[in-house]
Amino acid sequence: MTLRKAAISAGVALATLGAAPAFAQQVVKVGVILPMTGPFASTGRQVEAGARLWMAQNGDTVAGKKIEIIVRDDTGSADQTKRLATEMIVNDKVAVLAGFGLTPLALAVGPVATQAKVPAVIMAAGTTTIVNSSPYYARTSFTLSQNTVPMAQWAAKNGIKTVVTLVSDYGPGLDAEKAFKTEFEGKGGKVLDTLRSPLANPEFAPFLQKAKDLKPDALFMVVPSGQGASLMKQVNERELAKAGIKIIGTGDMTDDDQLNSMGDALIGVVTSHNYSAAHDSPENKAYVAAFQKAANMRPNFMSVGGFDGMALIYKALEKTKGDTDGTKLVEAMKGMAWTSPRGPMSIDATTRDITQNVYIREVKKVDGQLWNVEFETMPNVKGDVK
Ligand code: PHB
Repeated sequence: MTLRKAAISAGVALATLGAAPAFAQQVVKVGVILPMTGPFASTGRQVEAGARLWMAQNGDTVAGKKIEIIVRDDTGSADQTKRLATEMIVNDKVAVLAGFGLTPLALAVGPVATQAKVPAVIMAAGTTTIVNSSPYYARTSFTLSQNTVPMAQWAAKNGIKTVVTLVSDYGPGLDAEKAFKTEFEGKGGKVLDTLRSPLANPEFAPFLQKAKDLKPDALFMVVPSGQGASLMKQVNERELAKAGIKIIGTGDMTDDDQLNSMGDALIGVVTSHNYSAAHDSPENKAYVAAFQKAANMRPNFMSVGGFDGMALIYKALEKTKGDTDGTKLVEAMKGMAWTSPRGPMSIDATTRDITQNVYIREVKKVDGQLWNVEFETMPNVKGDVK
């Protein structure tokens, strides 16, 4: 089949899908697409474990319908994400899509979700514009501007006058760079330089050397989950902290999935983020214990995206009384609010993006392990915070 013919037949298949008697189905399939192999496999592993834990704790029946999740590996390739999304809608007849481990993977699915009128729950990716790319998107992860603005405010309030930023050179990094510069300079600080490292196979050393040479009060960094350990190893080797440069960033770089293996040099690093495994609440204590038992690892911020993503799908199905019509399901998701292991969260009724607390944390050693210990809370930060 030629590419054009293939595209047309996929289009026809999607077009006819709207007429399918979705309400008649007794099994509700949720198609979860994640990087399960490749450099971002830790994201897939964490999100899947979170989603499965929600189901283990809440049963697999909602409003009389049996919930079934199908997990597929896109290996981190956007072409695969798009192909799998189309396949799962057309062949598996999924009622909801979910997952999306990186921004380009999520962006590839927007047009597919829109055409098929299938809700898509972003459990991992964090660029602000993703939710605008389809009216069928809702987000249970975080946005980088949401997680960055509180860090810029904290830096400005805590004697930091000059900063160099170093971010991954794609959507989430660029959102963070912009949010940091705008907020920090608006509060009287100065960003001396905005450095960007490539997303694939990043070699951080030359950027770190450049940052060191500029002698800022602090270096603000953002890399996607999975790259924190190699970044921090190079930060330690370059002895930035010894040179008097404070290490700050979003919690992506002190990811709970890797933090405990990063070494004591991390102690004192300050980050802002939407989730820490050390979050002090009864819901989170229960979550961490159950997650560790079920998945044999410490949950990170990606895991709660999966856990709460399933929560959102369950709550929406309860509200529609089991009706799987995509438009009704998205409608039901708007304004939904509940208490997550991360703290209170809600889905903004207008943007379908997540509103949640952002916490300022410091890496500390507690009972022989490294944790992101929260010490300040910025409540109810919107996903599209400017
Ligand atoms: C993203 O690609 O949107 C992304 C991935 C991992 C992160 C943050 C953002 O930790």
